[in-house]
Amino acid sequence: DIEALQRHFDDTIAAEHRIEPRDWMPDGYRRTLVRQIAQHAHSEIIGMQPEGDWLLSAPSLRRKAILLAKVQDEAGHGLYLYSAAETLGADRADLTDKLIEGRQKYSSIFNYPTLSYADVGVIGWLVDGAAICNQVPLCRSSYGPYARAMIRICKEESFHQRQGYELLLTMMRGTDEQRAMVQDAVDRWWWPSLMMFGPPDAESPNTAQSMAWGIKRHTNDELRQRYVDMTVPQAEFLGVTLPDPELSLDPETGRHRFGAIDWSELKRVISGEGAMNRLRLARRRAARDDNAWVTEAATAYAEKHAAEKRA
Ligand code: ACO
Repeated sequence: DIEALQRHFDDTIAAEHRIEPRDWMPDGYRRTLVRQIAQHAHSEIIGMQPEGDWLLSAPSLRRKAILLAKVQDEAGHGLYLYSAAETLGADRADLTDKLIEGRQKYSSIFNYPTLSYADVGVIGWLVDGAAICNQVPLCRSSYGPYARAMIRICKEESFHQRQGYELLLTMMRGTDEQRAMVQDAVDRWWWPSLMMFGPPDAESPNTAQSMAWGIKRHTNDELRQRYVDMTVPQAEFLGVTLPDPELSLDPETGRHRFGAIDWSELKRVISGEGAMNRLRLARRRAARDDNAWVTEAATAYAEKHAAEKRA
């Protein structure tokens, strides 16, 4: 009966064991996971665009090979995550339709433009750095397929972060103009990277329940703080200034204080009013529609072979 199933589920969570696809789970747990995993998958796929824009004008063959590998990894992350969502009964074509129709979200961060090649480096350092901070704890998420997908994704994100930081170190050893490009990119991406962690805890409707279910392991503010503490020394080593005059080390706690985040900007970007929202979704829609024939051909081929096997 339902009470026994619920008890078994609660005990599994309390014991820090994993919930697997065939296990009974409350509807809300399933819905929350589909929501978060789908948003995460969409972010990986939409996230190919800002950097993909630089593939044809990378400054050297070496940089192009690195960037190509990175953008392909993002596609792979999207695919593992859609597979994880499918273990919960979701359908990936349906999830894609929901994204394109604006019924599901993707990360705010991918709605900002990439204006120079320094942005490729800063996305690796700050955006992928923030993603690692947020995703390493998700390797211990209570839902097995999501947690396992995160392990490989985090390893690849770590390569992404390093290639970005290495690119920036190279530019900082270059000309004054290159150093100015790096600083300009840092000025534009710093605050949006802090917003990636989501609204402050007091205004995060999902955190408490997701923590109780072991889906999330830390609150949005905890992870944001961890990211700031991790990033400040890296900025110093690199020789750039983070654009926040209030940033300072609190000697008592060993943590950094930082200025107020403009939450109205996050709301605006999430609701579709960011600089690049329309273009990002228009391209995603075109990719779905223009490539529908590939899906149709692959489906027809698979059906033909399945029929031959049965015969
Ligand atoms: N961009 C877009 N939407 C956001 C963002 C953001 N930066 N932050 C929060 N939201 C949305 C939430 O998805 C939620 O929307 P919904 O309830 O309509 O679905 C709403 O704002 C309220 O936020 P929370 O209650 O805090 O939501 P949640 O508990 O899901 O926490 C978080 C948000 C931290 C992003 C969480 O979902 C998470 O850890 N996701 C996995 C990581 C991820 O998706 N990363 C993608 C970007 S990183 C990358 O791909 C490089």
